[in-house]
Amino acid sequence: MAGAPHIHIEDLNLHYRTKGNGSVTALQGVTIDIAPRSFVSIVGPSGCGKTTLLKVLSGVLRPSSGKVLLENTPIGETDLSGKVGYVFQRPLLLPWRTALDNVLLTTEIARKDMPLAQRKAEAREWLKLTGLAGFEDRLPHELSGGMQQRVSLSRALAFRPSILMMDEPFAALDEITRETMQEELLRLWSVTESTVIFITHSISEAVLLSERVIVMTARPGRVDEIIDIPFPRPRDEELRGRPEFTSLVQHIRHKLHPRV
Ligand SMILES: Nc1ncnc2c1ncn2[C@@H]1O[C@H](COP(=O)(O)OP(=O)(O)OP(=O)(O)O)[C@@H](O)[C@H]1O
Ligand SMILES: [Mg+2]
Repeated sequence: MAGAPHIHIEDLNLHYRTKGNGSVTALQGVTIDIAPRSFVSIVGPSGCGKTTLLKVLSGVLRPSSGKVLLENTPIGETDLSGKVGYVFQRPLLLPWRTALDNVLLTTEIARKDMPLAQRKAEAREWLKLTGLAGFEDRLPHELSGGMQQRVSLSRALAFRPSILMMDEPFAALDEITRETMQEELLRLWSVTESTVIFITHSISEAVLLSERVIVMTARPGRVDEIIDIPFPRPRDEELRGRPEFTSLVQHIRHKLHPRV
């Protein structure tokens, strides 16, 4: 797998067509650079265009105007299959396939040249890394919500995507499971070559995980501020208690709710 590409977004505008020839501007003049292997979070009010931005980056939506380049090549001319992994708010597992078979789903396509035995061994390894050793043969309904989300994460990581896009992946989890998953994600990210683009409504989650936090304005979504998060890695829960951490979280909170 090639390494993660440099992502360059310049003056991106995205209008959705609506009924009766109308249009909604979801993104306006968005300019962002994302370095290879970095961890970037996007925060902003509901409806500001975060999911839309991921859809543009994954080639699902075509920009209305502006540039979106992966390693200097326009996104529309790039073959993204086998390069981009997704984790959504809900795990979206196939209910009739076991945890292991759900993880094998992506590698069936993206790594079809690899022998099945090897793909299985690697899938088991990812399940182990996400704390699911012993649950390989369970069906999704036999797993808790947090465990299902771990399967979904394993599935996304199993084919070693160069870009991992996560759209509020931990939103449906209880706080403790969420904190565990955050730590696991950081650990897994440190052993992969992936760039992570992470959408969240939790400001502290964004600050804890990321190298940069992109704060967006309410609709139409524009970039309000790009904040570098300077804390050294490895990071852990202890960081949350530090005054520098709290003041960065406060700064972003003020941006999003100017009156608070
Ligand atoms: N298919 C569509 N057709 C028309 N408008 C759309 C479509 N999808 C999204 N929109 C509009 O574009 C804007 C941005 O939507 P988007 O889903 O990207 O927001 P978001 O930041 O991900 O919000 P949330 O935090 O609630 O998930 C919203 O105003 C939404 O109503
Ligand atoms: Mg969204």
